Amino acid sequence: MQVVNKEAMNDLGMRLAKKLTSGDTVLLTGQMGAGKSELARGIARGLGYAGPIPSPTFTILNQYEGGREKLYHFDWYRIDDVEELYASGLDEVIGYDGITLIEWHQRAPELCPEDALEVVITVKDNDVRVVELISRGNFRSVCLEEL
Ligand SMILES: Nc1ncnc2c1ncn2[C@@H]1O[C@H](COP(=O)(O)OP(=O)(O)OP(=O)(O)O)[C@@H](O)[C@H]1O
Ligand SMILES: [Mg+2]
Repeated sequence: MQVVNKEAMNDLGMRLAKKLTSGDTVLLTGQMGAGKSELARGIARGLGYAGPIPSPTFTILNQYEGGREKLYHFDWYRIDDVEELYASGLDEVIGYDGITLIEWHQRAPELCPEDALEVVITVKDNDVRVVELISRGNFRSVCLEEL
């Protein structure tokens, strides 16, 4: 699917949020500036969070409570050592009581659940992005066109 600008990426996230439920993990794949955090922002809005939704680049994990489901938004870009991920509380949240989003999951593939929805964002010209969904493992199929 083509996503023509930042606003459209936010809208896509809001629609995708409706398909997500507690225990789901969403892996966000794409180069720097692809729009992973913009999509995450839309998902957070779609779950009912009204406040600011900053990038977790420096915090590793941002948590949101008070929406339809808890939301855990990770960014592993700055992780050098998986021990840091454990320190961030990762093993206590992924796949349990909320929805988990992970940017730069490739940094620690051994810590990603096998069953996950991967969102691949590819940068095209200007503001255009191509978004694809891949159901990994036994994750149910989610069709972009039906969102
Ligand atoms: N179609 C689009 N979808 C999303 N963002 C877009 C789009 N077109 C332009 N942008 C711009 O691209 C940037 C995307 O930034 P964002 O922080 O979401 O990237 P990211 O993939 O999370 O990068 P990082 O790996 O650094 O965390 C923003 O500045 C946004 O305004
Ligand atoms: Mg980001």
